[in-house]
Amino acid sequence: MNFKKNILCIGAGYVGGPTMAMIAHKCPQYKVTVVDINPVRIAEWNSDHLPIYEPGLDKIVRQARNRNLFFSTEVDQNIKRSDVIFVSVNTPTKTFGAGNGMTADLQYWEKTARQILQSAESSKIIVEKSTLPVKTALAMERILTSNQSGIYFDVLSNPEFLAEGTAINDLENPDRVLIGSHQTKKGLKARDVLVEIYENWVPKERIITSDIWSSELSKLVSNAILAQRISSINAISALCEKTGADIVEVSKAVGMDHRIGDRFLNASVGFGGSCFKKDILNLVYLCQNYGLHEVADFWKGVVNINEYQKERFVLNMLAAMFNTLAGKRICLFGFAFKADTGDTRESPAFFIANRLIEEKVELVITDPKALKNAKNDLDEFKEEVSFVEDPYKAASGCHAIAILTEWVLYQNLDFEKIYRSMLKPAFIFDGRNIIDHQKVFEIGFNVYPIGKPALTHF
Ligand SMILES: NC(=O)c1ccc[n+]([C@@H]2O[C@H](COP(=O)([O-])OP(=O)(O)OC[C@H]3O[C@@H](n4cnc5c(N)ncnc54)[C@H](O)[C@@H]3O)[C@@H](O)[C@H]2O)c1
Repeated sequence: MNFKKNILCIGAGYVGGPTMAMIAHKCPQYKVTVVDINPVRIAEWNSDHLPIYEPGLDKIVRQARNRNLFFSTEVDQNIKRSDVIFVSVNTPTKTFGAGNGMTADLQYWEKTARQILQSAESSKIIVEKSTLPVKTALAMERILTSNQSGIYFDVLSNPEFLAEGTAINDLENPDRVLIGSHQTKKGLKARDVLVEIYENWVPKERIITSDIWSSELSKLVSNAILAQRISSINAISALCEKTGADIVEVSKAVGMDHRIGDRFLNASVGFGGSCFKKDILNLVYLCQNYGLHEVADFWKGVVNINEYQKERFVLNMLAAMFNTLAGKRICLFGFAFKADTGDTRESPAFFIANRLIEEKVELVITDPKALKNAKNDLDEFKEEVSFVEDPYKAASGCHAIAILTEWVLYQNLDFEKIYRSMLKPAFIFDGRNIIDHQKVFEIGFNVYPIGKPALTHF
């Protein structure tokens, strides 16, 4: 079949896989190929067991795969054949040298740029999908124009705003698609090629365009503001616990103001995921680099409150359970960083598991989709941790349950049955405020929600 264009995506992760599956699904006239250096990941994308769990993803991959959607490890050959290249490689926080623990590690990014330069035999449009520090496009351009081959590369910024767990809906009905380009004749022409792809399913008014730097910065700011709302309400949850106010009532009253809105105002054990912390630290580092120390401190506070909230949760458990957790058996309900994903990167559950192990707790972990990743994350603690898929079996014989992921499944459990199987006094620490606290208290549990008075039988 003759395709209108060859689209390539480098990086078959949580972003590359779903975004390209959606383009292939909506645009049968384009051939979409996703490549990765990790052969196991590519084999999984080509199998019945996709490497990531995302509601609705299986269906669209199955429909488009081997029709106009292909997964491959052949990076160089596919670069040669492509017209448009999305780059969606990981950009984690740097763990060495200058900017250690703060700025983005761009080594995968730069390797990709060099590989494109080395393999390309014709001009191409390069699209930044990864989240990057402002001005990264400039570095990409400098690498791509570093030889005199006569091949021309247009670099566009097209940050991805999908949220894991709702990625398919987010991609199908995005609030906006943002495309940043140089405001030159060539830059605008390249931008229009990308606009044309999205116009296959996204309403015109939702496709917004800007200069490249504003586009790059908008992604960092979006994540920083979302996380800031969570830290704001979590900070107030600590005050609620001291004063007897109820954070759910406060969130409701505050969120009903249409200037504020009710999204991202649920108090919890803290935010996780691969992006929020990394992107805020990136922003902080940028501000510090430009000498904007007050601005940097403001945003660093969002991360600080998140760390505080996780530690506070552990200290509340310790205080409630008679100031000693050593030798106690505690079950974690949920290890994914949020519901409807198997992703455990930066999950609050990972931090809490580590802290509880320090307190010499015997841990049992249950999660409907994240046990494989949880086992990898906690590989060094084989003695201290067991993994049990069935939440009833997991909780049996435990002193306490800590709910760490807001899976709907946990709201509908038979807590009477669970209570009967646990050691007494039995405790529930609801790190997501998702269960009926009064009901489980009446069953016999001592209940510790976030930002609400505890319900105890003592
Ligand atoms: N996960 C999210 O929810 C999300 C949302 C929006 C934006 N982002 C951003 O998107 C980017 C990718 O995130 P992700 O979660 O998909 O990461 P990921 O780690 O799941 O996937 C990245 C993939 O890139 C591959 N890779 C690295 N170097 C490569 C190379 N030189 N050639 C080919 N493949 C290579 C890796 O093997 C990996 O499979 C990051 O910049 C992230 O900040 C992520």
